[in-house]
Amino acid sequence: MNVTSIKNTILFCTMFVLLLIFYFGWPRGPEFSSFTHLSSTGNMTVLLWNWPFRQSVSLKGDVCWDLYKIPNCKLVDQRSLFPSAHVVVFHNRELIQGRQKLPTDLPRPQGQRWAWMSLESPAHNGNLQKFANIFNMTMSYRRDADVTLPYGELQPVEPEGNLVEDSHINKTSLVCWVVSNYMNHHKRTQVYKELIATVPVKVYGQWNKKPLSSADLLPTISRCYFYLAFENSLAKDYITEKLWKNAFQGGAVPIVLGPPISDYKAVAPDHSFIHVDEFASVQELGKHLQRLAEDRERYEEYFHWKKYWKVKVNGDWREKLCKICLRYNSLSQHKVYSDLEAWDKIDYTRP
Ligand SMILES: *[C@@H]1O[C@H](CO)[C@@H](O)[C@H](O)[C@H]1NC(C)=O
Ligand SMILES: *[C@@H]1O[C@H](CO)[C@@H](O)[C@H](O)[C@H]1NC(C)=O
Ligand SMILES: *[C@@H]1O[C@H](CO)[C@@H](O)[C@H](O)[C@H]1NC(C)=O
Repeated sequence: MNVTSIKNTILFCTMFVLLLIFYFGWPRGPEFSSFTHLSSTGNMTVLLWNWPFRQSVSLKGDVCWDLYKIPNCKLVDQRSLFPSAHVVVFHNRELIQGRQKLPTDLPRPQGQRWAWMSLESPAHNGNLQKFANIFNMTMSYRRDADVTLPYGELQPVEPEGNLVEDSHINKTSLVCWVVSNYMNHHKRTQVYKELIATVPVKVYGQWNKKPLSSADLLPTISRCYFYLAFENSLAKDYITEKLWKNAFQGGAVPIVLGPPISDYKAVAPDHSFIHVDEFASVQELGKHLQRLAEDRERYEEYFHWKKYWKVKVNGDWREKLCKICLRYNSLSQHKVYSDLEAWDKIDYTRP
């Protein structure tokens, strides 16, 4: 081969490679195109675009590791870091109120995911039709969200060393309820009105002008046999701190009204709650509660689960954000919520 033909060969090969790149793009890594600044090694960056309810918390240091032992997960809230964020989280409330706007004018780095976050029930999320084809992830209390953020959860306890104390101690009221937001159209209001026709219900909270300080809440509930953990909205998986904190941590047996029994069974211990739907009428429910309170043994059975589980009430937004990193590798490579409104307002009563 002479020098010219070698030169021609090199030239030809170069042209060929350039053509390939032109048609198929620059070779991509497993996750990100090399045209972006998103690193696929080291820390994952989660950018919180707007703090929920405008209440910010410090993100100094390695928050996810220091507080929750979740590694390689960097939480930031400086919008200037947008180009390097793997996930950008938007809290719905401020978006629907118009206090915050989506940065749709910024070029989205390839591979960056936008997460929609809300812990409200569909009735309080507003109309999400304008968010079609924007978000790649959902973060909600729903079990089928990409990142599930339950209001509370169970943790196993050491088999020894937790004597279940006598749950009858100090009980002075049969049924208690703490309610601030009392509305006639709530289903729970109807059930409450029917229940007081059969059994006495001790009511606390704003509505009854008997508000409880947070220090008084659980000790007050602990003096009740039963607690009305009634949700204000009936929606798929919508089970709030009324169950996890008020009833379970307060030490009263929860009477639940909210999603169907199967949603409760999926997250709460066996034989730990009584669902309103288990009875043909509210009157029967009332009679059942009276009998249970008089039957020490059967009442105690509602506390057996405490031998195996303890309740963790979830509050800190930082933990919710760190959970993204635990789920990140199992998210699908490409996903867009083409109709977020339909996803949110799903009719859970249909299979
Ligand atoms: C990850 O972030 C932590 C905390 O900000 C930092 O100490 C560490 O050096 C970072 N690691 C990498 C590989 O960037
Ligand atoms: C019962 O009440 C007494 C007096 O108020 C209190 O000291 C005690 O801790 C209570 N016991 C339980 C199990 O809550
Ligand atoms: C995220 O959604 C946007 C907007 O629909 C889309 O262009 C992008 O490909 C999606 N990214 C991923 C990683 O799914």
